[in-house]
Amino acid sequence: MGRWTLDEIPWDRFDRSKLDTEIVRIVKAASVVEYNGGAYAHHLCRIFCDDPDFQQAARRWGEEEIQHGKALARWAQLADPNFEFDVAFGRFQAGYRVDFDCDVSRRGSRSGEMIARCMVEVATSSYYTALRDAAREPVLKEICRNIAADEFRHYKLFYKNLMRCLERERIGFWSRLRIAAGRIAESEDDELAYAYYAANETERPYDRRYFKRAYARRAYGLCREHHVAHGITLIFKAVGLTPNGLLARAASRFAWRAMRTRAIRLEKAAA
Ligand SMILES: [Fe+2]
Ligand SMILES: [Fe+2]
Repeated sequence: MGRWTLDEIPWDRFDRSKLDTEIVRIVKAASVVEYNGGAYAHHLCRIFCDDPDFQQAARRWGEEEIQHGKALARWAQLADPNFEFDVAFGRFQAGYRVDFDCDVSRRGSRSGEMIARCMVEVATSSYYTALRDAAREPVLKEICRNIAADEFRHYKLFYKNLMRCLERERIGFWSRLRIAAGRIAESEDDELAYAYYAANETERPYDRRYFKRAYARRAYGLCREHHVAHGITLIFKAVGLTPNGLLARAASRFAWRAMRTRAIRLEKAAA
């Protein structure tokens, strides 16, 4: 289990007057993605089949991701009593399929898998920090504070294992960078768009472009420059670059501008 439990969340402080309906929608989407964490843990155990210590850490990690899903789902049901988490999760599982039962990483190596996992934890750590800062509802703030701390700890877990894997595998800087960039680009793939659809839409059929933009508009709109800067330092560290140097600062400014431009464009398109 995680370092916090659902019973420690101050559910009785829930304040309906501070709800933001746009945030409720992305929390519903996040709840189904997080709850799917057990499938990824199973995949990591297959990839590290001869490493019982890491398997144990991966299973614990998966349990923590599932707990994130449960906490977010419970909050979303408080915010919207019509939200049926089980139905949403069933729709997500039926429509978004990845082969988690193979024992070889699609990143080509164990180190590659760890780099990809680091990228996901960077993104979630920054995202839940941004959501915590943007939310006015106090229970959601507390949930996001806990989750963001977990995601940062998950990054450290995978980074530590990456260093161990790199002692045995020769993965050059460019390969690390390519894997990292590839995984970041995948954040625009179907997973989040389909989760947003499965958790929020019951009338219309799935339209990838539409739901990708619907999710991204709400998610990017939450991020501020310091959230992006925090993420860039962790990305640089994972690919083997100096995390606080000139290059990192330049990349951070570039990434922030790119995200801001995208957020403004999506807002205008939706207006
Ligand atoms: Fe999570
Ligand atoms: Fe995580």
